[in-house]
Amino acid sequence: MISNTISIPDVDVEQLPLRIQRDLRSDHAGEAGAVMIYKGILKVTKDPEIINFAKNHLETENKHLSFFENWMPRKNRSKLTFLWKMSGFLTGVIAASGARYFTYLTIYIIESFVISHYQKQIRTGPSQLCEALRMLQQDEKHHRKEAEAFMCNAPNLLERLWSFALEKGSKGAVLMARLI
Ligand SMILES: [Fe+2]
Ligand SMILES: [Fe+2]
Repeated sequence: MISNTISIPDVDVEQLPLRIQRDLRSDHAGEAGAVMIYKGILKVTKDPEIINFAKNHLETENKHLSFFENWMPRKNRSKLTFLWKMSGFLTGVIAASGARYFTYLTIYIIESFVISHYQKQIRTGPSQLCEALRMLQQDEKHHRKEAEAFMCNAPNLLERLWSFALEKGSKGAVLMARLI
């Protein structure tokens, strides 16, 4: 079940410890990238099943992005947001260039990363943010489950290499977005 509106926490982002501000900056970067992944998929695919899948997910990712943008002052966002958007779009284009399985695998890997990214913050962050982070994470779990439902075989070597690149790329992006 996809969450409805995620309430903005009753806390000023700039009053939060720097570590948390950095986490939130990486969250915003990730959601900006996620929106563009689905836009990239929709730019390339002609497959009605993938179009439907991507449109549904895009709607949720737009909600996630709006949540952060309605809450976080612009100066708290990553200075490299254009880069996260571009790499998200490119990821979506590549994901949709292969077979359906390749698209679903890409989403499965990305969502798995995002779920554990939010999990770390839920475990170690301030309690005022817990509910919003949990709702975001629930949606990502739902997205992963939807992708997983269509994955009926094990990835081949190329797909494993792509998964590895996605995981490393996501990790690197979080590290950079936390800083810049
Ligand atoms: Fe999201
Ligand atoms: Fe998602």
